[in-house]
Order: sequence, then C-alpha cells, then structure tokens
Amino acid sequence: MNFYRPSGKREPNLAASIGVFDSGVGGLSVWQEIARQFPHEHTLYVADQAHMPYGSRSLAEVQTFSEGITRFLLHHGAKIVVIACNTASAAALLHLREIFPEVPFVGMEPAVKPAVERTRTGRVGVLATQATFQGQLFAKLTDAYGHNARLLPQIGWGLAQAVEAGQLDSPATLALLRQHLSPLREAGIDQLVLGCTHYPFLRPAIEQILGPDVAIIDPAPAVARQTGRVLAQRRLQNGREGAARHLFFTSSPVKPFETMVGRLLPAQTPHIQIRPARWQPGLAGDELVAMEF
Ligand code: DGL
Repeated sequence: MNFYRPSGKREPNLAASIGVFDSGVGGLSVWQEIARQFPHEHTLYVADQAHMPYGSRSLAEVQTFSEGITRFLLHHGAKIVVIACNTASAAALLHLREIFPEVPFVGMEPAVKPAVERTRTGRVGVLATQATFQGQLFAKLTDAYGHNARLLPQIGWGLAQAVEAGQLDSPATLALLRQHLSPLREAGIDQLVLGCTHYPFLRPAIEQILGPDVAIIDPAPAVARQTGRVLAQRRLQNGREGAARHLFFTSSPVKPFETMVGRLLPAQTPHIQIRPARWQPGLAGDELVAMEF
C-alpha cells in the first residue's frame, strides 16, 4: 500500500490518493473543494481530533503531530499531502518538506494577497488561530503585503471548537463572533481573510454580523486548484474515470465525527468510509495507527 518507499523512490501508482489532514473537521472545507474539482481522485483524510485544538498548542507540538500524520498518510497510499490546516502549515510545512523531500506538499497560509489587492478601505482583517499568527509564514505575509494595506490580525478564540461541536449559529457562537469581529468592523475593514479552515463553516454567521460591505475570503478553492497544479506538474493525476474511494480517519471516537461529517458536507457528497486511528507509542515517538483496518 505504501506509495513512497523508505528509500524515497516513487512508484508510478497514479491511482494513489490525495492525502489531506487537519486537527479536526475544519479541513473538510478544503477536502470538499478537492473532491468537487477532482471527482476521479481517491482521497484520504485525517482528523486529529484527539489533539484538537492545534491553534493554542506550541508550534513544536503541532510539528510533531503533523509529521506523524504525514507518515500515516504515506503509509496508506498518499501521493501528495495537502495540509488543510493553517496552523499545521505555519508550524510544519517547511519541516515536512525538509524531511520528506520526495513528497509533494500543498500548505496553506491566510489569503492576504488577494485581500490586499481588492481592499478599497486599505484595511484587511485576518481571522486565524494564535499559533498561525506566531508562525514564520504569517510574518512573511506581513513583510510582503503589510505596506500596501493595514493588516488587522484577530485570534478566533473558541471558534474552531464551536465548529467541532456543531455550534455553527448558536447564541454562544454568535456572541463569540461578535466579540472577535466588532473591533475589525469598527476599524473599517472591507475584506476578511478566513485564516483557519474551520471558519468557512461559520460563514453565514460571519456574513450576518459583518453585513454586505465586507468581502469574505475563503482560500479553499485556490488550495484545491493548487493541488491540481502540483499533481499535473508531477504527472500524478489519476487518468481513470470512475468512482473515487474516500477514506477518512479520526484519532477520536468515530460516531461524533461521522455525525459532523454528515452535517458539514453537502448532501451530494460521494460515499465516505470512516475508520478510527489511534496514537500509540512507537520507536521514534508516538505513531498514528489505523484500527480495524
Ligand atoms: N483548522 C485549523 C487551522 O486551519 C486549526 C484549528 C485548531 O485546531 O485550532 O488553523
């Protein structure tokens, strides 16, 4: 099943999967775009819900989890790894590229560039986790675009957890959103960058609070397009027509994850199998292992 051999040699298995991971259900906002844009590609998805939230952990911890998940995805036949998590990208993208030089990775960063290009008020809000703002990737974005517009970073405390709990428009979630978004609105933003993959699921609630004058930028379609470009460059597309296989894993109990997957993904989503995976002590630290597989 291994697509990448330990020697680093790549096998020409074009029917291998697109591997996707996040701390939880947030990465589904990216996964659904990938499945929509590439209906013939098989996918693997890991939700590391046992360690969720990543956003308030140290970058070193998130890097360790990301490495373990990448090994797991490669072991189960991933031909590319999409880090559908801004926090994990900020913490681990450069490290993963270094330790798996043969593996194509697609990472995420807050979509500041299009927001800065489009703003008319010159003020751009960025909603992301604490760890994302601490990473090098965000510092680079500020250096590159911070002189063209005023970037207003806002930590979305509690928002990813609200999405995990399925509280997309509960009074508590709306109150939390109002608390985070009011300072941005008062500062005159006309663009809000969703810098965490959980937040697109809060989009209706965010729109209700910010009103029609603030454009909301969800990078998921662009990340899916980038995944397609990398597959094409490396000649890794699955040319075969036919139904794709989608296999999801969670490091927490399956049932609540299954319920949330059903709630968050559109009704016409293709069939998905969901399996448990567990973190277990291994020779080189904790390993993610599939159960009942
Ligand atoms: N979905 C993740 C992101 O894009 C992080 C959520 C969390 O675990 O804090 O940043």
